[in-house]
Amino acid sequence: MSRMERADEHPFGIDFGGTGIKGAPVDLAAGDLAGEKAKIDTPRPATPAAVSAVFQELVAGFPPSHAAVGVTVPGVMVHGVVRSAANIDRSWVGADADAIFSEALQREVHVVNDADAAGLAEVEYGAARGRSGLVIVTTLGTGIGSALVHDGVLVPNSELGHLQVEGRVAEKHAANSVREREGLSWEEWAARLTVYYRTLERLFTPDLFVVGGGVSKSADKFLPLIEVETEIVPAALRNKAGIIGAALVASRAGLRS
Ligand code: BGC
Repeated sequence: MSRMERADEHPFGIDFGGTGIKGAPVDLAAGDLAGEKAKIDTPRPATPAAVSAVFQELVAGFPPSHAAVGVTVPGVMVHGVVRSAANIDRSWVGADADAIFSEALQREVHVVNDADAAGLAEVEYGAARGRSGLVIVTTLGTGIGSALVHDGVLVPNSELGHLQVEGRVAEKHAANSVREREGLSWEEWAARLTVYYRTLERLFTPDLFVVGGGVSKSADKFLPLIEVETEIVPAALRNKAGIIGAALVASRAGLRS
């Protein structure tokens, strides 16, 4: 049987980001995508109805399936309901995203915070695989996302990008979008990140920091410049982490129900 023929049994992962919506079936045994991923631009405004329509189009490009779908959302997700929207359309706040997407796709859908999905995937298959103790995964992008995973168990919605550091919201001072907007050198940015990661270190005493987000592909330029005691490594799954983590969450939710 070919990979695509088997794909209908695999949970499907969707990464809903500010610029693009990407999705693919995920082979959880392999910890990898089970087929080519598809990508559609995020609609503007990215309202629940517009995003649901894009999800339908995206999923329709794959073999029919009843397998569960996981979706990453860049906000606080509590039991399927969106509780914050720092970088997405305000109309999401209060929306029952699980119900809206399940109705739109006629499949069981579970949403998860984007950084939590990436964190789970890195712990299960990536840079933190096999690591015990406290792992803090941060994603450096438009904002700063965080996942706190202790001995493989996620504490959801940690939102450490919104910590106040030196009187400022951390992600407004140290996200990758700020580096780009202000034209910071790697050294200048690393100095800000040092203050940020030292704060996390003081508060949580983690065993490992994993640094994700698109900029992690340039990790050699800034990671060695961050001065912390804790081991700090780049994420391994790159832009697949969200899709894989989302599918993992969907599959685990299915096992519980
Ligand atoms: C949001 C988080 C999200 C992070 C990364 C923050 O602004 O509050 O929920 O994980 O951005 O997208």
